[in-house]
Amino acid sequence: MFLVLLGAPGAGKGTQAAIISRKVGLAHIASGDLFRQAVEKETKLGQLVKAYMDKGILVPDEVTIQMISERLNEPDCKAGCVFDGFPRTMEQAKALDKALANQGKLIDKAVYIEVSEEELLKRLSGRWICHQCQTPYHEVSSPPKVPNRCDKCGGELYQRSDDTEETVKERLKVYFAQTTPVLNYYEAQGKLIKVDGKLGIEKVAKEIIDVLRLESMNAK
Ligand code: AP5
Ligand code: MG
Ligand code: ZN
Repeated sequence: MFLVLLGAPGAGKGTQAAIISRKVGLAHIASGDLFRQAVEKETKLGQLVKAYMDKGILVPDEVTIQMISERLNEPDCKAGCVFDGFPRTMEQAKALDKALANQGKLIDKAVYIEVSEEELLKRLSGRWICHQCQTPYHEVSSPPKVPNRCDKCGGELYQRSDDTEETVKERLKVYFAQTTPVLNYYEAQGKLIKVDGKLGIEKVAKEIIDVLRLESMNAK
């Protein structure tokens, strides 16, 4: 199964992709996480993408598509994966379809996590991320058990440099302008599933898994 998680910055794509990929046994491919790892390691890719990320604008399509295509060729993706933060432009959506078609595969469903703008801002301003495994936490809705330490790996938590008020505004603007056509693209193919993202983390996960199960039963 190949799934795409769609939603604005802060909607909960990373949170839900981690839960679903674990429950369903799929790889989790997060473009933002891959870019942040490259920036942290100061690789050539990291040096190239840093300025885009700091401004809250999209990394050029050819760079992003190349990185995801390489990741998709790794063995853990053979049985399927959950895409988080990709595709974000029509160019990327079409490139993804092509890359999958070359392997005789396709996107099964695109899950759109809907959250109000007011809630997005609250989520991003209170978010903390693990340095090592990138698990997101929230100081109010999902704090770590030990302050400043990741529950999963014990790594130190930090706040993303693009979670400032100004950069968040730009990221939201970019999202509505460039990613809305991608929602329409999956909707036109009958693949879009909308879920109410304002519920708690576990409830949203249950909603997504229930809908996917129902869809797969209907398909049989
Ligand atoms: P990326 O890392 O993908 O960031 P984003 O899309 O802005 O999304 P976020 O990661 O901020 O939000 P999320 O939906 O994952 O929310 P999360 O689960 O953390 O991209 C960053 C940058 O990289 C881009 O600006 C761009 O420069 C570049 N980039 C990446 N992909 C690209 C691409 N394809 N093309 C070009 N450039 C690209 O949750 C947020 C917070 O809310 C957390 O604190 C969490 O604990 C909390 N929370 C989550 N769910 C709930 C809930 N149900 N209830 C209460 N709290 C919740
Ligand atoms: Mg994320
Ligand atoms: Zn961790």
